[in-house]
Amino acid sequence: MKITKRSWPVLLVSGQFDMPNDEGMRLRELESELTEVQKCSVITSYSYEDAAEIFISRADLGTILIDWDLPEEGTGEEMSPEILLETIRKRNLNIPVCLLTERLGVKKIPTHVLENINECLWKTADTSEFLAGRIEALLTRYIQSVYPDFFAQIVNYSAAYKYAWHTPGHMGGEGFLKSPAGVAMHKFYGENMFRADLSISVPELGSLLDHSGVAGDAEKNSARVFGSDMTYYVLNGTSHANQIIWRSQLLRDDIAFVDRNCHKSLNYAMVITEAYPVYMVPRRNKRGIIGPCRLSEFSRESISQKIEENRLIPEEKKQNSVKMSALTNSTYDGLCYNVVNIKKQLKKSVENLHFDEAWYAYARFHPIYTDHFAMTDDDVNEEHPPIFSSQSTHKLLTALSQASMLHIKNGSHAAINPDEFNESYMMHSSTSPQYSMIASLDVATKMMEDSGKGLLDDAILEAVTMRQKVAMITRELRGKGEWFFAMWQPEKIEHEGKIKRFEEVPSSYLCENQAPWILGADDNWHGFEDIEDNYVMLDPIKLTFTTPGLYEDGTMEEEGIPASVVTNYLINHGIVCEKTDYYSFLLLNSIGTTKAKQGSFLSGLLKFKELYGKNVSLKFVQPDLVRKFPEVYDGTGLKDHCRQMHKYIKNNKLLDKMQAAFQIIPDQAMKPAEAYHAVVRKNVEYVDLDDMLDRIPAVMVVPYPPGIPVMMGGEIMDSKAEPIYEYLKALQDFENLFPGYESDIHGVERVEREGKNCFRTLCIRK
Ligand SMILES: Cc1ncc(COP(=O)(O)O)c(C=O)c1O
Repeated sequence: MKITKRSWPVLLVSGQFDMPNDEGMRLRELESELTEVQKCSVITSYSYEDAAEIFISRADLGTILIDWDLPEEGTGEEMSPEILLETIRKRNLNIPVCLLTERLGVKKIPTHVLENINECLWKTADTSEFLAGRIEALLTRYIQSVYPDFFAQIVNYSAAYKYAWHTPGHMGGEGFLKSPAGVAMHKFYGENMFRADLSISVPELGSLLDHSGVAGDAEKNSARVFGSDMTYYVLNGTSHANQIIWRSQLLRDDIAFVDRNCHKSLNYAMVITEAYPVYMVPRRNKRGIIGPCRLSEFSRESISQKIEENRLIPEEKKQNSVKMSALTNSTYDGLCYNVVNIKKQLKKSVENLHFDEAWYAYARFHPIYTDHFAMTDDDVNEEHPPIFSSQSTHKLLTALSQASMLHIKNGSHAAINPDEFNESYMMHSSTSPQYSMIASLDVATKMMEDSGKGLLDDAILEAVTMRQKVAMITRELRGKGEWFFAMWQPEKIEHEGKIKRFEEVPSSYLCENQAPWILGADDNWHGFEDIEDNYVMLDPIKLTFTTPGLYEDGTMEEEGIPASVVTNYLINHGIVCEKTDYYSFLLLNSIGTTKAKQGSFLSGLLKFKELYGKNVSLKFVQPDLVRKFPEVYDGTGLKDHCRQMHKYIKNNKLLDKMQAAFQIIPDQAMKPAEAYHAVVRKNVEYVDLDDMLDRIPAVMVVPYPPGIPVMMGGEIMDSKAEPIYEYLKALQDFENLFPGYESDIHGVERVEREGKNCFRTLCIRK
C-alpha cells in the first residue's frame, strides 16, 4: 500500500463549520479545497474537547487547524483553544498547528500561544485556495520529517520499483506469487514487507556490519538519543548483545562478577568466553520475589573474598583483575538500581560494567527514572570504567521482535575502540541483516525522541491509576471482611509533610516524583532486609499483584489462592500475564497498553472472586484443564481446587524450600565452559532427579518462577546443594499432583516412568 498525503488527515476544529453564515461557508470551502484540489483528507471536530480526544487517540494526524475565535458564553464548551494547544504540544512538538482567526483577532492571541503554533490563517481575508495551499505545504513538510532517515531510505527505495537481481530469493515478493502457500503469505503480510526486504548489496542503505552509510547514521542517532558514546543495532536479541559485550572483553580464565539473577544468555557468554564466574546473590523476600543484590557485595573486599573462596580459580590467577561485572537492571519484578551508587562502588573493583537492561529501554525518557539506568548522564568528575547496556528494544519499546540495542559509554580513562569491538559484533551478526528490523530500531529511536516523555507519562499514569484503583477496591472489600487481590507497593506515602494512604495521594505526585518509589529500610512493605538508602526504586509500570495465602512475615494462612490458578483463569479469558510466582503475578503496563485492557483485567479479577466465592465447578472456570485431566479435576470447584493446591504448598513447605534452594551457590566442579565442552565431546548422559546427588549438570537449571538458575553447568549437586535437590523434588511431586500446572524449568526434561512425570537433566558422564 502506498502511503500518501491522505494517510495523514488534517484535523479541522471549529464550532462554526456547519453554521449558515459567511464563516461557516468559508470553512466548508476550505475543506473542499483541501480534499478535492490538494488531495488531503480532513476530519472535522466541532469542539476543542472532542478535538483533544481525537488528537490523543490518533498519532496519524498531519496538521491541526484550530478556530481561535472563542465560542460565546453558554455554548457548553469547557476546554479553551489554549488548553487544546497545550495538550497537543505536550505530546507532539512538531505537528503543524494553525490558528484560524479574523484579521483583527490576532491582537488578542497571547504570545505564548503564538510561540507554539506554525501559522495564523485569516479565515475571511484570504481565499480558500490560498489557505489550502499553505496548509498542504505545511503538511507535506511535516510528513517528510516524520520518517527517520533509515526508514525513509527504505520507503523511497521500495517506492522506486527497481528490478531486483539480488537476494533475498523472493526478489521483492515476486517469488512468493509462484505457489499458493507463497501467495497466502504475500497476501497476509502485504507487498511493502517484501519490497522492503532487501539485500546487503543495496548500497543506498549502507552496511550494518561496518556501521557505514544510513545504517551507521541511524546507530549514531540512537547513540545520541539514548545517551551513549556508541550504539550498535543487534538483530538477534539481547541474548546476543550480551554475548557480543562479553566476547569483546573477556578471554579464557578471566574472572567475571555476575548477578546470579542473570539471563541464560549470560551463562552462554561464560561458556563462549571460558571465563570464571563469581556470583553476587540477590536478596529475596518471603513471597519469593527476587530483590536487589546487596550494595556491600560490590565492595572490593567482598569481591576479593569471593574470589579467594572460589575453589576453581587457580591461586596464581586470584590476584587478576575482574574483567566484567554483569547486573540485571531492572529485575523482572521492576526493581531498578541506582546506577550512580553502583558505579561509585565498582569503579575500582572491575574493569567493565555491564547492565543487562533487556526490559528497561525506556528509562532514559522519563525523569522518574533519573540515575537508575546505565546510560545516565555522567558526572564529569566521576571516574568510572566503560559501561555497557544491552536493551531489548523489542520488549518494551516498539521494535520488531529480536531487535535490540547495545549501548556503550566510554570509561573516564578507558575508551572502547570501535574497530576492536566490531570484531566481536561481527562474530555474532549475520551478513544478511533484516532491514525492516533496522528500520524498526530507527523508528523506535525517533518515537522516543519525539514523544518518549509523553508516551511514558501516559503509561505511568495508567499504571498508577490501576495501582490506586486496586488499592481502593482491596480496602473497600477488606473493610467488609472480604478478600481481594492486593498490589505489591507502598501502603503509605509521605506527601506534603503528611503520611497518606497510597490511594489517597494525588496521582500527579506519584507520576512525577521518584521519592514515593524508592525502597526504604523503615517502611518495609517490600519485605527485603537491610535495604540501603537511595539504592533501589520500584518501577511504577511493572505491576505485581499479590494473591491471598501468605502473611507478610512469610508464614502461610489457612486458606490461600495460588497465583497460577488466577493467571490460568485469566489466560482462558484472553488476558496473558507476564510472569506468575507462587502468590503473585506480574503485568507490564507498557506504552502499548490501553485503558480498555485495564478495565477487562479488573473485571476479570472481580469475576474470579465471584466464581471462587461460589465454588463454581472447574468445568466452567477452566474447561480445557478439566477436559485434559478429567480424572484429576472433574467434580472439583474453584475454591476446593485453590484450597488443595494451597494446602500442598503449605504442608510441603514449598516456599521455604525455594527460599533455601536460592540461598546456596553450589560448589563449582568445573567452569560452565568445561561443562559445555563435555556436551560437545558427548561425555554427558541424562540423569533422573532421584539419582542426581553428587552429579554435575552440564547445563544450567532454571525454574520459572522465579527464573534464577538454581544450578549452573559445572556446579555439583553435593550435600551443600541438597536444598536445591529437595526443591526440585518438591516441584516434581507438585507437577504430578497438579497436572496442567507444570512450570517451565530450563535444563530439565520430563520423562514418564510408571505413569509419573520424572525430571531428568543432562549431566557430566561419570
Ligand atoms: C534479563 C534478560 N536479559 C536478556 C534477555 C534476552 O533478550 P532477547 O529476548 O532480546 O534475546 C532476556 C529475555 O527475556 C532477559 O530477561
